[in-house]
Amino acid sequence: MNRSRGVLASAIEAIGGTPLVELSRLTRGMAGRILAKLEYLNPGFSKKDRIARQIIEDAEAQGLLQPGRTVVELTSGNTGTGLAIVCGIKGYPFVAVMSRGNSVERARMMAALGAQVVLVDQLPGSKPGQVSGGDLELVEREAQRIVRERSAFRADQFRLESNARAHYLHTGPEILEQSGGAIDAFCDFVGTGGSFGGCAAAFKEYNPAIRCYVVEPEGAAVLAGDPVTNPHHRIQGGGYSMAHLLMVRPEHVDGYVKVSDEETIAAARRLAKEEGIFAGFSSGANVAAAKRLLEGECKGKTVAVLLNDSGLKYLSTDLWE
Ligand SMILES: Cc1ncc(COP(=O)(O)O)c(C=O)c1O
Repeated sequence: MNRSRGVLASAIEAIGGTPLVELSRLTRGMAGRILAKLEYLNPGFSKKDRIARQIIEDAEAQGLLQPGRTVVELTSGNTGTGLAIVCGIKGYPFVAVMSRGNSVERARMMAALGAQVVLVDQLPGSKPGQVSGGDLELVEREAQRIVRERSAFRADQFRLESNARAHYLHTGPEILEQSGGAIDAFCDFVGTGGSFGGCAAAFKEYNPAIRCYVVEPEGAAVLAGDPVTNPHHRIQGGGYSMAHLLMVRPEHVDGYVKVSDEETIAAARRLAKEEGIFAGFSSGANVAAAKRLLEGECKGKTVAVLLNDSGLKYLSTDLWE
């Protein structure tokens, strides 16, 4: 683990090696434990720094990235921040293409880290703060145009296996090492599915009895096979109603947990007030799902979760009262 490794050569080396903390105050009176990996302590304040590093280093190793080649990605914030850090240090120009519907802090942070941020107008009728599938389609088109125009490398987190590899090689093994291998279950709110897929592969390889659960928003649980009745849920970073995700392999999925906006927000607030852990919506979703498992089929067991990004990224929302 690199947190106590002395002087590091750059902030890239400070990615990963995050602490694992037992949430003993939130589980008081319950049978079982929740172990939380504090991914918001990465340099860009999210777990996505890990995939940014892996995508760029794999592309370098495969000869896809020559010095000075531009890197482009469509982002709503966290992956773009990670890429801005990694590309900035390594000297690749980075273009983050984002919908104007995403919050302004994110664009400012990426720009501060050296990214060129291209904002794409929303469709007529779309609301700021709620980026629709149609809005994303426009962002995708603009990203593709810039890739062609600049002969750029597309750091495509939905398609590149490096995304899941980052978690297979690092996040999952770190949890096993820090817990002494003593976890019974893992549950994860899914966006691209890279974190779920990579961690689940590492856990199943170590012990096939570790149960792995996909977490989805209530009303948008398409992987569980439900119809979409609530596409405008509040859990940013995932729950995109995409029924097929390359990185979520059926053989890794032992079950599905659905969480509501209300229990997600309540869990994020309790994390802050009772555990001193200031994390975002999707971290609340993971903790709410883990509690649900401890009350049901994982009673008395140890459940591992990732706390994905910092609560600071949501100061402009009503997550914090
Ligand atoms: C805050 C947050 N939570 C959860 C996720 C989902 O993670 P994954 O894409 O690995 O499924 C993301 C992805 O962007 C995210 O930014």
